[in-house]
Amino acid sequence: MVERGRGNLPAEFTSMIGRAAEVAEGLRALTRTRLLTVTGPGGVGKSRVGVRIARHARRRFPGGIWYAELSAVTGEPALTARVAAAIGRPQARTAEGIAAALRERRALVVLDTCEHLAGPVARLVAVMLRRAPEVKIVVTGRQPLDLAGQRLLYVRPLAEADAVTLFAERAAAVDPDFSLSVGTRAAVAEICRRLDGLPLAIELAAACLRSLTAPELRERLRDRWPLLAAGTTSALPRQRDLRAMVEWSHALCGAEQRVLWAALSVVDGGFERQTAEAIGVEAGLPRVRVGAVLGDLVASSVVLREPMPGGAGYRLLQPYRQVGLELLEARARTRLTARYGAATATPVPRPDGGRETGDVVLSPRELQVAELITEGLTNLEIAGRLVISKRTVDAHVRNILAKGHLTSRTHVAAWMVSHD
Ligand SMILES: Nc1ncnc2c1ncn2[C@@H]1O[C@H](COP(=O)(O)OP(=O)(O)O)[C@@H](O)[C@H]1O
Ligand SMILES: [Mg+2]
Repeated sequence: MVERGRGNLPAEFTSMIGRAAEVAEGLRALTRTRLLTVTGPGGVGKSRVGVRIARHARRRFPGGIWYAELSAVTGEPALTARVAAAIGRPQARTAEGIAAALRERRALVVLDTCEHLAGPVARLVAVMLRRAPEVKIVVTGRQPLDLAGQRLLYVRPLAEADAVTLFAERAAAVDPDFSLSVGTRAAVAEICRRLDGLPLAIELAAACLRSLTAPELRERLRDRWPLLAAGTTSALPRQRDLRAMVEWSHALCGAEQRVLWAALSVVDGGFERQTAEAIGVEAGLPRVRVGAVLGDLVASSVVLREPMPGGAGYRLLQPYRQVGLELLEARARTRLTARYGAATATPVPRPDGGRETGDVVLSPRELQVAELITEGLTNLEIAGRLVISKRTVDAHVRNILAKGHLTSRTHVAAWMVSHD
């Protein structure tokens, strides 16, 4: 179903809970930038947020809102064809043709689910931005594009109150008698905590209330993860979604990233950087590589950054962790669990202001530079904005990378937004 107004934005069939801050931030960003990238882990709600932002922005785009869902698209020609069809010009065969069709139009293009197509999407977007000066673009994906000029919006798991509301709404849809009562609320809150506030997991769990009560579901989630069951015919069609989501991230990872992902899965909860490095080395990665590989896992939203009492910290969302554990060879699992299984650190809510995270303390100038990187400025543009030389900016960027153990501007941007 396509809703009124120019374009082909899909209607939302289920209620949306929370996310007012993310949507507002996205709308604000779209007034200042032409490329907004909505990023975060699989199943967290990037597509929902992206579509919602586009819907709220539609009055600013008389040229229409054009939406292309790209999860099943592979390769550049298929991408071009899909986007050309989405904007109503199926005859356009190239990025230039798409840009020409949009030239002079104040249009918003939403490219949804781009993590597997980062290169081709970046090229297409670059051509559209250059040749169709009135067009703005919203991209969603687990990983930022490697493009200057992009503004990042990082979507984190739902806060507990919103998670509980989401569960209750979806549960009521399958069991009309369901309501949050004194008896069920505690069970639902624990279920949502075990699911790490991940909307996709919460929806799947709520569907289980067809056959289980909330306290029964809580018990099942205490010792295993039935939601990840693969290939069982009794599973609901969507029950495969969560596993497929995680497996897709895995398929997009390189060999070193997979090794670290699996090894980190022995920790149930938050962990500190030093622990991550020790685990990586123990799992066979060269010491000099561990920091960069961890940075890659953060940039692709497999690992979440979290502030910890002792400094920078990290966490794997449960579905990623559960699949990681399955992939860990039994002996390594036993050995690593014995050593690091209890190495959890408790995340703390970040105090307002400042971006000090233990070992990473940026100077005020470096912080300014990092923020401008996140806005998508090049070093030259940053130099102009701060009225300093480009060489000075280059030096600041090197320092930021070194201090944060980061390897690229994309990592800096991902790191900054995940610390907002
Ligand atoms: N804030 C929300 N309120 C209600 N449902 C949500 C919310 N965020 C996500 N969902 C639902 O959770 C599932 C996963 O969300 P989606 O946007 O597809 O995640 P992503 O694009 O990050 O993989 C979808 O069924 C979506 O409708
Ligand atoms: Mg999506």
